[in-house]
Amino acid sequence: MEVCVVGTGYVGLVTGTCLAYLGHSVVCVDIDERKIEMLRRGQAPIYEPGLEPLIASGAQRGNLSFSTDLESSVNRSEIIFIAVGTPPLLSGKADLSYVKTVAQSVGRALDCERRRVIVNKSTVPIGSGNWVEMLVKEGLNDNPAWRDKLAGAASAQPSGAAPASRRLSGIRPEDVFQVASNPEFLREGSAITDTFYPDRIVIGATDVYATERLRALYEPIIEQTFNPPASAPRPADFTAVPVVTTDLASAEMIKYAANAFLATKISFANEIANICERVGADIREVVRGFGLDSRIGPKFLNAGVGWGGSCFGKDVSALIDIAKEYGYEPGLLRSTVEVNKRQRHVPVQKLQEVLKIIKGKTIGLLGLAFKPDTDDLRDAPALEIARQLIEMGARVKAYDPIANEACRAQHPDLKIEYSDNATLLAEDCDAVVIVTEWEEFRYLDLNQIGEVMNAKVLIDGRNVLDPQAVEEAGFKYRGIGR
Ligand SMILES: NC(=O)c1ccc[n+]([C@@H]2O[C@H](COP(=O)([O-])OP(=O)(O)OC[C@H]3O[C@@H](n4cnc5c(N)ncnc54)[C@H](O)[C@@H]3O)[C@@H](O)[C@H]2O)c1
Repeated sequence: MEVCVVGTGYVGLVTGTCLAYLGHSVVCVDIDERKIEMLRRGQAPIYEPGLEPLIASGAQRGNLSFSTDLESSVNRSEIIFIAVGTPPLLSGKADLSYVKTVAQSVGRALDCERRRVIVNKSTVPIGSGNWVEMLVKEGLNDNPAWRDKLAGAASAQPSGAAPASRRLSGIRPEDVFQVASNPEFLREGSAITDTFYPDRIVIGATDVYATERLRALYEPIIEQTFNPPASAPRPADFTAVPVVTTDLASAEMIKYAANAFLATKISFANEIANICERVGADIREVVRGFGLDSRIGPKFLNAGVGWGGSCFGKDVSALIDIAKEYGYEPGLLRSTVEVNKRQRHVPVQKLQEVLKIIKGKTIGLLGLAFKPDTDDLRDAPALEIARQLIEMGARVKAYDPIANEACRAQHPDLKIEYSDNATLLAEDCDAVVIVTEWEEFRYLDLNQIGEVMNAKVLIDGRNVLDPQAVEEAGFKYRGIGR
């Protein structure tokens, strides 16, 4: 099928690239010319394991291209994904200005020659499907092809007279486009695997046509009939993908509910960890014990410095805002956010406990990205920890295996000194803090690091190290909830 993906960020680029791998003909569109230039050269503007080889193979086979020209891209396509950002506004509401621009532009651009499915892949508040439909219709009103179509219908009337209203012309906007919701659940760092082997595919639509076209698009994934790429082998026993077909509002709500639940699970683990610490229990043992309950499950219960990233914070805030709009007070969701906010202070409190004075001390942060295997710094706990420490008068150093450059470029205001590896980071430090659980931090050479530090203090903000081994290497160790 011919597909256009508008927005080549973490979601749009991965979706477009994977759909091309499955054999669809895909054009990815962005307004960012630099990104499109990079992609045309075969370079991914984001760090995502396995993505670049897939982009190269799509480009080689000739069914994956990149463009800044929305109009021609839309018109060669039957399915048009909107995958632009929906970042949070200060109020907590989702900023829908990018979605709005795209929806209106698509309406203005459609050649009206055939029926298209416009798919909201961006995470958008409930009701956005209907809103996007309205915006595309607004775009159609400024669209010469649509006006010609209406005029053609008018002259075809038996009397030759213009119909009394557009509705009586016999042509409806639904004949040239349908809106569907197809929320995305991929995780950065394993986005390719998540796209090829999702837990489910959710399709929300008012019309069976849109649902059927999306089902057809995803058929190779639903039935698992494709040959897996080398970078994303099919997991053992993975056979078929459940499809949830539903109405627009429910599809939109499924995405918010999923992220709110995952964020709540982590905040719950952090709350229990904080109590564990006070009563002398070990959160790792506690989670092992209660996570084995099949009603609970062990995933997303790692205590640490709190969740971050581009989705959890903004989606929970947006859901709170939606609830408020309808006069409902979402107390549980507010607590989820509140616990997370507090959790980001925990490493700093631990540093105060051990070092007493922070002013004038050198603190090394191991990890900047909000999670491993990505360079995404949006709402990363490391940024807030760095900011707190700098405000308290500390000298802050940081080392991230991938995100140093992104941090330097995106946060020039943060007076961080960047290091190229963990040992260089540790030099002259009075303490190091593991903020992101990159795999390499599990295998730190503690002896080497300890030798170059001022004082051997290690705050394990992700509970990735064995406290006993760290203490045997002569460090003061503080984990979270243990
Ligand atoms: N990042 C994730 O892990 C993830 C997971 C699931 C869902 N989502 C949701 O998917 C959506 C996209 O997220 P993302 O992380 O990919 O965002 P992103 O910021 O990485 O990418 C958005 C892209 O859209 C482009 N864009 C903006 N306006 C445009 C326009 N008018 N025309 C063409 N391109 C335009 C931007 O230049 C950018 O490249 C968001 O709603 C997000 O909540 C994200």
